[in-house]
Amino acid sequence: MPRILLYTGKGGVGKTSVAAATALACADAGMKTIVLSTDIAHSLGDAMGRELGPEPIEVVPNLWGQESDAFFNVARYWGRIQEYAASVLRWRGLDEVLAEEMTVLPGMDEVGSLLWIAEHHDSGKYDVIVVDAAPTGETLRLLSLPEAAKWWMEKVEPIGRRISKLTGPLIHRVVGIPMPGDDVFDAGENLFARLEYMRSLLADGSKTSVRVVLTLESVVIREAQRSFTYFHLYDYPTDLVVANRILPAEVGPYFRGWYEAQQSYGPIVEESFAPIPVLRAPYFDREVVGIERLRELAVAIYGERSPTDFYYRGRPYSVKRDDQSFVLSLELPFTSREQIALTRHGDEIVIDVGAWRRNLVLPRVLIDAATQGAHFEDHVLQIRFAATGTASPATTKGGNHG
Ligand SMILES: Nc1ncnc2c1ncn2[C@@H]1O[C@H](COP(=O)(O)OP(=O)(O)O)[C@@H](O)[C@H]1O
Ligand SMILES: [Mg+2]
Repeated sequence: MPRILLYTGKGGVGKTSVAAATALACADAGMKTIVLSTDIAHSLGDAMGRELGPEPIEVVPNLWGQESDAFFNVARYWGRIQEYAASVLRWRGLDEVLAEEMTVLPGMDEVGSLLWIAEHHDSGKYDVIVVDAAPTGETLRLLSLPEAAKWWMEKVEPIGRRISKLTGPLIHRVVGIPMPGDDVFDAGENLFARLEYMRSLLADGSKTSVRVVLTLESVVIREAQRSFTYFHLYDYPTDLVVANRILPAEVGPYFRGWYEAQQSYGPIVEESFAPIPVLRAPYFDREVVGIERLRELAVAIYGERSPTDFYYRGRPYSVKRDDQSFVLSLELPFTSREQIALTRHGDEIVIDVGAWRRNLVLPRVLIDAATQGAHFEDHVLQIRFAATGTASPATTKGGNHG
């Protein structure tokens, strides 16, 4: 059963370097490993000092690299499906803007390359699949696509098939709905089935770890925190944070300010991601290019441990949806109700537990949602948020996670 390690983070933090270094460490340890980049701005080949292509290429023994393009030409029919879904929604009385929003599944090209993960998983050729994913925002969108697709399948597609079978020509004449044939629906179903399969692999905590690479800068940390909440919202297992490019103490006066800022952010990162561990890598005195440099980076990050270890198991917190509310649940062992205080600051919940403070950056679905109340029982803190209006598909939580 292959292990899947997916690295994401803000642009430029070192995702590609860390993913390549990780893959190399796995290969060096004797595991058949593929590292594939799903970022359309490929730089994996540059990091490895070797030209890569859309098919896997063996770089060193046990290590294959791939700068994938779309495995499945998603865009080809997506345009038609989307246009059609929007017209059905308009026809059902949803206003135009909302109808558009509910059917826009951006990143359909990139998602095609993520489908390679399922391909490599099923091929049986590899022990480890390392993914150098796109920057966080992008990757999150892609990872939320299967949810959106499921929504589409359940809500739009049955109506569509019915209409197109029974009254297609008539409806078309009267209200101008484009009527795609069954081929479009079949293509859609096929695509969504693949997406759903990929999602199930990535959400499988016995196989997959989604890992966040960050640097010790406020903007980067904030984005990492938000993405972290999102991974929980969509049930993707996270087990590790890699803090990259940490300046050594012996920097000169010019970089003193940077050094001190990083020193002060270190504990904040540890605290806000706890209990997920944070591994650190230094800022090297030159770029991380080529096998030798990558090996150094891997040793700096993982030391003697295997990158395929599960660094954390479980869900530190989760966000679930029921009919009227989103419920954010957070495990707080060794706590009593009297010790907990909650404050809301816009997109952030500050949780004070005795002398400890945790800043939880809320996922976007919750930013505008009013807090309805909180509840502490069996060591689980539950904060309830109003689910306002109609959620867009990318933020709608299916009922299968309750
Ligand atoms: N720990 C490090 N020390 C020095 N340079 C690094 C380190 N990590 C990454 N780099 C360099 O920073 C640049 C960006 O890294 P890259 O891995 O391409 O980031 P991303 O994939 O997140 O955009 C590259 O030139 C890389 O060699
Ligand atoms: Mg990159």
